[in-house]
Amino acid sequence: MIQIVPATTAHVKAIQEVSAIAWPDAFKDILSASQIAYMMEWMYSDSSLHEQMEEKNHRYFLAISDDENVGYMSIEHNCENKGKTKIHKLYILPGQQKKGIGRMLIDFALERAHEAGDGAIYLNVNKYNGNAIAFYQRTGFFLAKEEVIDIGNGFIMDDFVFERTI
Ligand SMILES: CC(C)(COP(=O)(O)OP(=O)(O)OC[C@H]1O[C@@H](n2cnc3c(N)ncnc32)[C@H](O)[C@@H]1OP(=O)(O)O)[C@@H](O)C(=O)NCCC(=O)NCCS
Repeated sequence: MIQIVPATTAHVKAIQEVSAIAWPDAFKDILSASQIAYMMEWMYSDSSLHEQMEEKNHRYFLAISDDENVGYMSIEHNCENKGKTKIHKLYILPGQQKKGIGRMLIDFALERAHEAGDGAIYLNVNKYNGNAIAFYQRTGFFLAKEEVIDIGNGFIMDDFVFERTI
């Protein structure tokens, strides 16, 4: 059975352990090794995760299966004062994908967003991440816009923004 539990700064190491496997695996054919290393440090260092949780209102959740952490999601309600919840991160371990855990986390995010009074959930996905795009299309999202974001060090994120109304 899958449990979804809120994660705090006490779970930073657990999030780092899952991300160290899931994140490079998802982007190994899309981004250079140097961009993967840069983005891992940018998003998953101790200081970055503490800042996201303690200062940026990113709420993290772990998906747990038989005592094993198999995935995580972070969301932010009323992101940029848009009245929408942003899913900042959604990652499932490679061996645990396509078992319905991602859909469970989307449903969970929809419930939290509804409770928070938001009217939609949205997220950025790399334009070349075909697996994730197929998943979001399958789970009721529509393509809202395209976005190219300069993330420093000569790197960009070339994204689609997908949205689902609540
Ligand atoms: C994308 C991801 C979150 C999806 O989670 P998941 O647990 O594998 O997906 P689910 O098993 O819940 O799938 C839900 C639906 O999407 C479909 N789906 C999932 N991956 C798919 C794919 N690659 N191609 C086509 N359909 C797909 C499933 O068939 C399922 O459809 P159904 O419920 O109608 O049968 C997960 O695969 C993942 O972590 N990928 C790597 C990291 C990543 O890219 N994250 C997103 C960053 S924006």
